[in-house]
Amino acid sequence: MLAIQAFLSAFFSFLIFSAGIHAAPISNVEAGNIPVRSGSAAKVVVPTLAQMRTKLDVRPNTSLFYSSDLDGKGTCDQAKAWAAKHPGKNYKVLEQLWKDPNYPHPFEKSDPAIRKEFFDVASKAMAELSEGTVHVVLCPWDGSKTKDWYKESVWNRMEWPTLQDNKKVKTVIRVNPDNDAEVKILGNK
Ligand SMILES: *[C@@H]1O[C@H](CO)[C@@H](O)[C@H](O)[C@H]1NC(C)=O
Repeated sequence: MLAIQAFLSAFFSFLIFSAGIHAAPISNVEAGNIPVRSGSAAKVVVPTLAQMRTKLDVRPNTSLFYSSDLDGKGTCDQAKAWAAKHPGKNYKVLEQLWKDPNYPHPFEKSDPAIRKEFFDVASKAMAELSEGTVHVVLCPWDGSKTKDWYKESVWNRMEWPTLQDNKKVKTVIRVNPDNDAEVKILGNK
């Protein structure tokens, strides 16, 4: 486990280093100057999964994931609107789970590769910390195909596989943002 974390840490550092190289202005190098990176992007290092887990406060039965399609079905706002219809349940999306609400800000302002890496790791951490019944607001499903969603989404790449591996997750419910219909996609309710 430690070896894997060390590897991932080194791997992410390499990615960031590579991104930094590409971001360096070539004209400065050709002019013989030392490349100066403007902004804070180059200093931002994506936390490991273990580090990320310590930044989140995820309570049982409250995890709310979402994933929007190109038609704008399954957005963060729709997930929050659905949560607001269930007062007392305390359903929360990732952005509401940071122990320090400012923690993700430097990563949100970073270049797209760093930002993507950060939210991939954060989303996986949230899925690992989830317990009990989990909800996901996704595009409306097509008839009996209740696991039809965008394959490249964070949901499909990071969250759904992690939830299936998470022994503490008993049930995953998919919510249709159009009509609040629900369908169970994992476990027994
Ligand atoms: C989560 O929900 C399950 C099933 O409804 C329930 O048995 C359990 O007590 C809940 N856990 C918490 C901490 O509320």
